[in-house]
Amino acid sequence: MSSLVKVKIYTASEPLVSWIYEGQTVWQAVQKAGVLQRGDCGGRGICGKCKARVEGDVLSLTSEEEEVLSVEEKQGGFRLTCKCHVMGETSVFLPETRIAHLKGGLLMFERYPGVLAAIKKVDTHIPPFNRNNPIPLMERVQWSFKDYELEISSANLNHIAELDQGDGFRINGGLLDKTVLRIHPQGQGRFCGLAVDIGTTWISCALIDLITGELLGETGALNSQIEYGRDILARISYVMDNDTGIEELNEKVVRDISLIVEELLDGLEIGSEDILEMTVVGNPVMLHLFVGLDPRGLGRAPYVGLFRRGISRRAATLGMPMHPAGRVLILPQVAGFLGSDVVACLLAVAGNSLDNFLVLDIGTNGEMVIVKDDMYFACSIAAGSAFEGGGITSGMVARGGAIDRFWLEDGEMKYSVLGIERPEGICGSGLVDLLNVLLDLEVIDETGLIQPDKYAGKWRNTPRGTELIIVDEAESSQGLPLVLNQQDVRQLQLAKGAVRTGIDILMKEAGINPQGIDEVMFAGAFGHYLNPEAVIGIGMIPGFEEHRIKPIGNASLRGALAALVSVREREEAMRLASCITAVDLADHPDFASLFVESMAFK
Ligand code: FES
Repeated sequence: MSSLVKVKIYTASEPLVSWIYEGQTVWQAVQKAGVLQRGDCGGRGICGKCKARVEGDVLSLTSEEEEVLSVEEKQGGFRLTCKCHVMGETSVFLPETRIAHLKGGLLMFERYPGVLAAIKKVDTHIPPFNRNNPIPLMERVQWSFKDYELEISSANLNHIAELDQGDGFRINGGLLDKTVLRIHPQGQGRFCGLAVDIGTTWISCALIDLITGELLGETGALNSQIEYGRDILARISYVMDNDTGIEELNEKVVRDISLIVEELLDGLEIGSEDILEMTVVGNPVMLHLFVGLDPRGLGRAPYVGLFRRGISRRAATLGMPMHPAGRVLILPQVAGFLGSDVVACLLAVAGNSLDNFLVLDIGTNGEMVIVKDDMYFACSIAAGSAFEGGGITSGMVARGGAIDRFWLEDGEMKYSVLGIERPEGICGSGLVDLLNVLLDLEVIDETGLIQPDKYAGKWRNTPRGTELIIVDEAESSQGLPLVLNQQDVRQLQLAKGAVRTGIDILMKEAGINPQGIDEVMFAGAFGHYLNPEAVIGIGMIPGFEEHRIKPIGNASLRGALAALVSVREREEAMRLASCITAVDLADHPDFASLFVESMAFK
């Protein structure tokens, strides 16, 4: 059988990675990643709709491409993806594609079809101002929307007043339930929604037009609560030790979201008051702090917070940068240690044709779910931040400058860097790859002990112990060497042990073995760049076949988006939250023995 090759897919919203067999086409790689790409001729090389810029190890132009592509396109590196066969690592650039939705395994192209949002657009006519019977504009607007309540701002009415020049005119209203929140001259303006995923380390937001379904932007930022501690227990401790802890942490997340929204709106002709509804997902501690509720109950057995079901709040009460009377909807959580981010992940992948699958979201507070014949088993894992580069001497998050891959060529260690040429650090997927290479070389033994005499690379002695120099200072972007030492390996061992223990216990609870799992889906940044061979090689996951391992991007955010654009998805979120079996790892009788076993590299 031919070997697997990696294809990186760069879209407007996020990069994806797809693994295909050597000789398959770029089109197949794109589809495998779940992106629905344009193409009217079904891949026969006739329509030219699937063309994209491609770089990397691919076969030369086919006769169909010679015919369909212009000279400039050929010179610019454009290919018909349906006819471009991949032989080694390749990148494809799809700048027009926004990752909007993952449903039934497919990411929709640019727009959500058939939006079923709670926000509706209503159209009405404002009667003309009559000098003989002068009626103020506000009263005429109220009369025109007589079936509804009106909660429009003064600035909004002032803007509309500019149209009130004697003739009547038409306006569109943004309706939430029975209340018109925002009005625009007909055919102008947008009624928007915001999906928010509050991670312990990273906050992601997506802005969408709730009438057309067009994704307007997606971005994120570090959760600045991080200065109060990296994980949820540290945040709870801060609340325990400080009377104003809840308010301080709440202010941080409110400010972070406000700055992200500012960035999203920059350059768009949209104001924050055009955002009429927001859906929010996150782990229970993040959600409590977002609402300003005390999370202390979540830090000790039996891990019960102050709320679990989905709740809605007026935006103004939470200080959200949107219409003050807009609605903030927090999706339902599962248990004190499993939040609405798990539910959102499942919403994002629901509807696929698989019977049994495993979804992993490896963040600072990781979650995983096994779905077996419509039964759901989920747990959270304290993987720590090692896979996000936290606590690792040369670790960093997966962004430009991070080494994402390592491999051996003629006994020499090679690496690839995201975005820019010189490396700044090593991200989670790079660290997993590095461990795998060092295990192959027997530089790390099964117990995780570093054996310097096994490798003729560069070593140095420091107060932290012996360190392997992975990248010389002259080659790194910061002028500092990138290294790996024994403490780093131990941190990574703890993290991978936590992940493996979670998977083993969930499989046991679900009564399934690795052969029974059809697909393993990795959500989040870690999944974008991971090398399935390395993840299996270090024993982080059991021996699934590599082609069954698939990255699915930020599934929590896409689940939040799905609930934002569809009231049916909100009902589905409630159903999922109530039927997921929450498995408490800490209480599980096999936890201690499995965790010790899972720490070994085998
Ligand atoms: S799909 Fe028509 S040319 Fe590729």
